[in-house]
Amino acid sequence: MDGYLISCNLSTRHSYNLVADRYIDPFLDEIRKKGYNQRLLDLFAQRFPDGSLICDAGCGPSAHIGRYLFDKGMKVIGVDISDRCIAMASNLNKGIEFICDDIAQSDLITGSFDGIISYDSIIHTPKSHMNILFDAFYRILKPGGSLMVAVNAGLGEGFQKELLGINTEIYISCFSEAEIRNYFETAGFAIDLLEIKKSCNPMINNERIYAIGIKPPATSIFPAAR
Ligand SMILES: C[S@@+](CC[C@H](N)C(=O)[O-])C[C@H]1O[C@@H](n2cnc3c(N)ncnc32)[C@H](O)[C@@H]1O
Repeated sequence: MDGYLISCNLSTRHSYNLVADRYIDPFLDEIRKKGYNQRLLDLFAQRFPDGSLICDAGCGPSAHIGRYLFDKGMKVIGVDISDRCIAMASNLNKGIEFICDDIAQSDLITGSFDGIISYDSIIHTPKSHMNILFDAFYRILKPGGSLMVAVNAGLGEGFQKELLGINTEIYISCFSEAEIRNYFETAGFAIDLLEIKKSCNPMINNERIYAIGIKPPATSIFPAAR
């Protein structure tokens, strides 16, 4: 990993260690208040039989996305680069396993997950290094497994000097549909869903991108029996 990515990741860890306690209230049960997100998560969950293993990548301090899928019968492992987020998520979510690691260079076992869900966690990886993150997602998914990503749509990219009212420095980005498609396809995923959704609040001029990609199923090296 090069120095730029290392320093971005260090500032992400530092920033979320600082803001984790403030992050918890607004986002604790956020997903259950948003019908569109729930419908998409239900669609995502329907792909997997009970007991399938899902990674909540960049789970944050509440791990509310992972918990939503856990409550639907999935096994969930939450991964986050911030040790404060992992400590808080572990306290709040009995039954879910948590690991503090950088998802882009973790020791998670190759081909171990049926699904990965990344809600607003790729936004802290520089666009110039996004292929490293998507290659990692691809590596840890089983053949035939699905990756779901949700992010804010837009053009911005760079460092901001505060997060949730706390002075810090953190890299953050928004994306176009074309960029998201490109990340998936370059890593080897087939796009299964790519949608832009306007905020339901007319006061908020915000569009969200939701995407699901599938890692191709393994092909047998043996000829089919006649
Ligand atoms: C905007 S928060 C989203 C948290 C949660 N997914 C949610 O929807 O509430 C982004 C989270 O991703 C984590 N994160 C960012 N980059 C990461 C990486 N490379 N590996 C693991 N976690 C990461 C941050 O520490 C933070 O907790």
